[in-house]
Formats: sequence, structure tokens, C-alpha cells
Amino acid sequence: MKKITIAIDGFSSCGKSTMAKDLAREIGYIYIDSGAMYRAVTLYCLDNGLFRGKDVDTARLEQDMPGIRISFRLNPETGRPDTYLNDMNVESRIRTMEVSSHVSPVAAIPFVRQALVAQQQAMGREKGIVMDGRDIGTTVFPDAELKVFVTASPEIRAQRRYEELKAKGQEADYEDILANVKQRDDIDQHRAVSPLRRADDALLLDNSHLSIAEQKAWLLEQYKRVTEE
Ligand code: DC
Repeated sequence: MKKITIAIDGFSSCGKSTMAKDLAREIGYIYIDSGAMYRAVTLYCLDNGLFRGKDVDTARLEQDMPGIRISFRLNPETGRPDTYLNDMNVESRIRTMEVSSHVSPVAAIPFVRQALVAQQQAMGREKGIVMDGRDIGTTVFPDAELKVFVTASPEIRAQRRYEELKAKGQEADYEDILANVKQRDDIDQHRAVSPLRRADDALLLDNSHLSIAEQKAWLLEQYKRVTEE
């Protein structure tokens, strides 16, 4: 069967990564969470004192950028890829509220996007990849054979993230998370470089009232449709 490129974009916390990961595992494709890469750069900035309040010292970050190495390695226990920053496993540290509340300004810096998009395109050169993010169907892989744009209401997304953090035993406040989700939607949609928008040829999926199993089945159906065409 021919190998294709699958681009899954959408708002934060709308379950994109769960469906993308599950599909990749099922069909034997590589899965890349591009948001994890922006989160890893943000963690680097936090760990190295590059933030002044919410502002990033872009001159220092630009200098440091060539030495920031992000990779993914399969975790045999979870069967899913963990994110590594300069050879350190940062998978759980990049999911904290601290990183979530600092990531948008980092993801809006043009040289950061340029560097990460180049790495993402290199990862997808051989096809057989499912990548999720905000600009995968528009910028990273404009020629992807299957593009999906996922959305759900902010309240439902905040509730999902709240439950996710609680399940991991992390501090969580629903109202704080909802405010963060809305603020990130606004920044993601209105930034100058690669704003979040649905590619003209992307299928729209509003999963507000779908179970994970229903989403998974829908996505697998789309994959079969495209590869069997
Ligand atoms: O999907 P996520 O919440 O882990 O993404 C983290 C942040 O990175 C989010 O605020 C938007 C940004 N991002 C981006 O700008 N482009 C991508 N391709 C993926 C994520």
C-alpha cells in the first residue's frame, strides 16, 4: 500500500495527539507531536533564564538555537515516543502548566519556527508519517495526502486538559486552564507567522461530542479512503 503523509492540525487540547498517535500505531507510521518541539524550546528558555516575565530574550535564544537538539525516542513502557531535549527525557516536564503558559510567545518567533519546520520536513521526507500541530497542513506539509483540522469548544478542551493533569497527579485549576486555552487560541490564530488556520483542503472534525473510539474510527476510515483511491 502506498505511504502517505498525514497532517492533523487544530486548537490546543482538542485530542489531536491522541487520535494521531493511535492512528500511527495502528497503521505502522511514525508519529511526531510538533507541539512538543515548541514546548521543548520553551523549557530550554525557562531552564536557562531566557524569560523576562512573558518576554523571551530573542537575541540569546537565536544564539543558542543551533545547540538545542530535540529528538523523539520510543518509550517501551508506553509504546509511545518521548521527547528529548539535548539527550534528556523532558516528556513530563514539557506538559506542565508553566510550559503551557509560556509556549505561545516562543512559538511566534520566526527563527524558532523556521528551525523547527525544517526539522519536521526532514522527518517526513520518506512519508509514512502522522504529524500533529497548528501549521502542518498549511506550512510543513502543504502536499499532505490527508489533512484534518480538529476543533472542539474551549470549555470541553479545558475540561479534558484538567482531567489529564489530575490523572497525572499534577496541580490543576479548571478556570486557570480555561483562561489558558482561550488565550492560546487567540495567540495561535492571530500571530504573524503561520497562524492557526484550516488548510483549504483539510477535512473538518468537530469532536466536542465524539468519544475517543469514534474519532479513531473516523480517522482510520479517512486513511483507508485516501490510500485505497
Ligand atoms: O499542541 P500543543 O498544545 O502541545 O502546542 C504547544 C504550543 O505550540 C501551542 O501554543 C501552539 C504551538 N504550536 C505551533 O505554533 N505550531 C505547531 N505546529 C505546533 C504547536
